[in-house]
Amino acid sequence: MGKVYVFDHPLIQHKLTYIRDKNTGTKEFRELVEEIATLMAFEITRDLPLQEVEVETPVSKATSKVLSGKKLGIIPILRAGLGMVDGILKLIPAAKVGHVGLYRDPETLKPVEYYVKLPSDVEERELIVVDPMLATGGSAVEAIHSLKKRGAKNIRFMCLVAAPQGVEAMQKAHPDVDIYIAALDEKLNDHGYIVPGLGDAGDRLFGTK
Ligand code: PRP
Ligand code: URA
Repeated sequence: MGKVYVFDHPLIQHKLTYIRDKNTGTKEFRELVEEIATLMAFEITRDLPLQEVEVETPVSKATSKVLSGKKLGIIPILRAGLGMVDGILKLIPAAKVGHVGLYRDPETLKPVEYYVKLPSDVEERELIVVDPMLATGGSAVEAIHSLKKRGAKNIRFMCLVAAPQGVEAMQKAHPDVDIYIAALDEKLNDHGYIVPGLGDAGDRLFGTK
């Protein structure tokens, strides 16, 4: 069963409060999503492997550590996942970025795939799939199926706000995928929106609707 990590760092919780606020406008919403993504990336990269190197300081020789060059990939689920990419790239700028385009049919709430473009060596990379919202879980489950179909093996999923139903659906469909979230909310409403949530993440990020 995939593990669930809730990143309840005070800075993340503080910023999350402002993106939940319906009075927060597009510019500030976008900045905050990016900042939270950076803070979450800091936590999610805690277990990256290191290797020892020799370095000469102004004072003496030293044995120190650098990242051992694990290949990473960030996979935003379009559209709203795009809002998290730059924040993560601030910390891991050499990561490759692939895209999975899905939208949730407003009637059936089922995901509809419309675009997939991945790094050619996707099977060798440790992938972080990102989307601000995990509601029914349909989009994340489908995006990860799509990645696995194309050879991806090592996958984590990172989102800002999750509903219990989404976490359950992910754990059932992809027990090998750990889930990293900033907040686990109460439930879904009749339209499949997370309660209390933050509304429609894509629309708030891009100023649509
Ligand atoms: C939103 C969100 C997730 C999905 C979550 O995207 O960004 O991808 O809904 O819902 P689910 O867990 O029930 O599948 P949406 O379909 O609104 O598309 P958008 O990102 O293009 O706005
Ligand atoms: N997608 C969103 O953007 N928000 C929700 O609350 C649920 C799905």
